[in-house]
Amino acid sequence: VSGEISVASRQSGRPGLGRVTLVGAGPGAADLLTVRAVRALEQAQVVFYDALVSRETLELAPRAQRFCVGKRAGRPSTRQETIHALMIRAARRGRRVVRLKGGDPFVFGRGGEEMLALASAGVPCEVVPGVSSALAAPALSGIPATHRSLSAAFVVVSGHAETAWGPLLTTLPPGAATVIVLMGLGARGAISAAMVQAGWPRSTPAAVLWGAATAVARRWLGTLGTLPEAQASSVTQDAPGTLVIGEVVALAAVLAPADELEERGEAHAC
Ligand SMILES: C[S@@+](CC[C@H](N)C(=O)[O-])C[C@H]1O[C@@H](n2cnc3c(N)ncnc32)[C@H](O)[C@@H]1O
Repeated sequence: VSGEISVASRQSGRPGLGRVTLVGAGPGAADLLTVRAVRALEQAQVVFYDALVSRETLELAPRAQRFCVGKRAGRPSTRQETIHALMIRAARRGRRVVRLKGGDPFVFGRGGEEMLALASAGVPCEVVPGVSSALAAPALSGIPATHRSLSAAFVVVSGHAETAWGPLLTTLPPGAATVIVLMGLGARGAISAAMVQAGWPRSTPAAVLWGAATAVARRWLGTLGTLPEAQASSVTQDAPGTLVIGEVVALAAVLAPADELEERGEAHAC
């Protein structure tokens, strides 16, 4: 579908027409942005940003008009079609637009949909990949996604709906890969039960990583069997969280001592 459309849109570049850059903002801290992302922000005239983008990252676009179009589970949010229309209108007015998204735009970020909408409208667009929380959250908590002799693969799955994670996590051979679940905090009990039922030992190390690379970064370390008991504190109850299940989680206590994850300041809400 998209091959012809996107090539055409990149080449269209009519005089007076702006362009849109989908930029991955990484997991939170501004110093985890890529150099290309920083350049795009410095040159931006309009920025449409998501709820998880930090204030320090937004400050890298000092000359831009900045609009929050964030979505967080269970709260009023900007409709996806409205976001498309806003970007297209700004680009047609000749603006250099940055669409700033948490982590990587193409990892559960609807970046593909947005690029398709822009391409269909004939708006030149490109993507600047970002550091996904799927790998950054474990890494910053001392958990390598792969580790020789412990795990030779990892899977990243959405915990948002059972239809997304169920077919994979109930058929993945126990221990075959490190399991990384985004948007899975609310489903941790169901995920734990399903994996144990599928033959994963209850003793498999597991972690919940809240607010990685933000001021409220915290982690919980336990096992697949105790995963349902992991509780957010008052500090982290509003923070995004990532689940990690697999033998590599056992390295966390050695590679990132707990106190490094517990002495940070305040978070920024959209
Ligand atoms: C809609 S998905 C977007 C993922 C994003 N595109 C990425 O690549 O990181 C949002 C989920 O990412 C995870 N997440 C985002 N930021 C995080 C952070 N700083 N720490 C831990 N998990 C995070 C959480 O699972 C959250 O529910």
